[in-house]
Amino acid sequence: MAQVTQAPGGVLPRGFRSAEQGWPRLDRIPHPSRRVPLIGDVVGANVRTPIQDSMRIAAELGPIFRRKGFGKEIVFVWGAGLAAELADESRFAKHVGLGVANLRPLAGDGLFTAYNHEPNWQLAHDVLAPGFSRDAMAGYHPLMLDVAGQLMSAWDASEAAGRSVDVPVDMTKLTLETIARTGFGYDFGSFERDFDQEGPHPFISAMVGALSFAQRRNVVPPLLSVLLRGAERRNAADRAYLNRTVDEVIAARRAAGDGPGDLLDRMLEVAHPETGERLTPENIRRQVITFLVAGHETTSGALSFALHYLAQHPDVLAKARDEVDRVWGDVDVPAYEQVAKLRYLRRVLDESLRLWPTAPAFAREAVTDTTLGGVHPMRRGAWALVLTTMLHRDPAAWGENPEVFDPERFAPQAVRARPGHVFKPFGTGARACIGRQFALHEATLVLGLLLRRYDLAPEPGYRLRIAERLTLMPQDLRLHLTRR
Ligand code: HEM
Repeated sequence: MAQVTQAPGGVLPRGFRSAEQGWPRLDRIPHPSRRVPLIGDVVGANVRTPIQDSMRIAAELGPIFRRKGFGKEIVFVWGAGLAAELADESRFAKHVGLGVANLRPLAGDGLFTAYNHEPNWQLAHDVLAPGFSRDAMAGYHPLMLDVAGQLMSAWDASEAAGRSVDVPVDMTKLTLETIARTGFGYDFGSFERDFDQEGPHPFISAMVGALSFAQRRNVVPPLLSVLLRGAERRNAADRAYLNRTVDEVIAARRAAGDGPGDLLDRMLEVAHPETGERLTPENIRRQVITFLVAGHETTSGALSFALHYLAQHPDVLAKARDEVDRVWGDVDVPAYEQVAKLRYLRRVLDESLRLWPTAPAFAREAVTDTTLGGVHPMRRGAWALVLTTMLHRDPAAWGENPEVFDPERFAPQAVRARPGHVFKPFGTGARACIGRQFALHEATLVLGLLLRRYDLAPEPGYRLRIAERLTLMPQDLRLHLTRR
């Protein structure tokens, strides 16, 4: 059973702590040179691109640096050695701060947003972890195939009409339907909607609204929160919509009686194996929202980036497709076991997640007084943000050309030659992603099916731009398809 480290003597401090409170030798950590009194490091900062701004600053200031915005100071870490220290669970644990803390009004003590000390974390973790076992995954496989089939019908129609496809929009439909059906037996009907006429499903709009709002709250100071009043109102409406949807999902299951043993069944029916405790109705609501959001948004980005890189690298695409043809042969529908055998395609996915880890950062806090890298003292509760996008570009781990897309970085001998803790798209430790295998199975399966069916070509002149809404997504990515 995974255990979250607790600070000796009790509960860790909550809420946003500016770095001055926990880092007594902050003067040893560089910050951008053009710091404006009272306001902070706002020169050149863009509220829409906090991660990309931080990446530029990181490249200038090195493996540990700090940024200040309106009185709050944050320490960023991305050097491989320092990040490996932060992964040491005897000294550090997940910190619920910033964007994650801003999601608390929506997701409360659901798995993703729970504080380490909240009893519902361990309870829900133990009750839900078997929902991600190998057997459980094999049970989801046919449903994943059904949803992929809907995507391919839609893509066949676009191809026949000579229309390019909007990759992030379609990948979002696919991953939302997949988690909703596998986890909750619920059908949002995403593929039946006419996107051009009706726009995205209201669940998606409300979720994107809630995520963008959580990101915006990080960069607008409390004093100026009047600026967010309109946004607060929209956010309250988004939250209400998400809650209503989740209540419908739960009511539909209760009305149907016996469920198929999926995540929702576990939430409603399964007691903790040791304590006999059950999740409360309020906590179930939090978990359903958590899984519907965490279970699709990042996977949709990962698939979109992988399709972008495949379309940009015909040699990689050809090699991946050869593998699919060889491993799957001419079976109509690949079996569960045939998916993990697509080793090269998995490398393509890993390499896409290296360059653009779609959950681009995670926060770690000291569970005891400690010193980071031998020179940066931290008090218990002090925290740092690991900037995964830069950790994945540290030349010390990835060589001199980290910007180059090269799936061979994930060949077994290359992985063995690298130090540990340098590839962290799914976070680290007891609070790492519970849905990792789910996401990898879904994404590899879908990429295999798509490569088998289509040639992919980029729009002429497309240059990758990144949209940020807590998660990362390629912006305006369209591909042209040709049926093989
Ligand atoms: C490529 C896809 C995915 C990526 C990149 C990703 C990334 C992450 C990361 C980085 C964390 C740790 C966050 C932190 O330390 O604050 C996390 C946690 C989590 N993820 Fe994922 N995730 C993905 C897919 C999924 C899926 C498919 C599910 C559910 C089916 C899921 C459910 C969760 C949950 C519930 C947590 C919280 C776990 C806990 O604290 O116990 N994720 N994910």
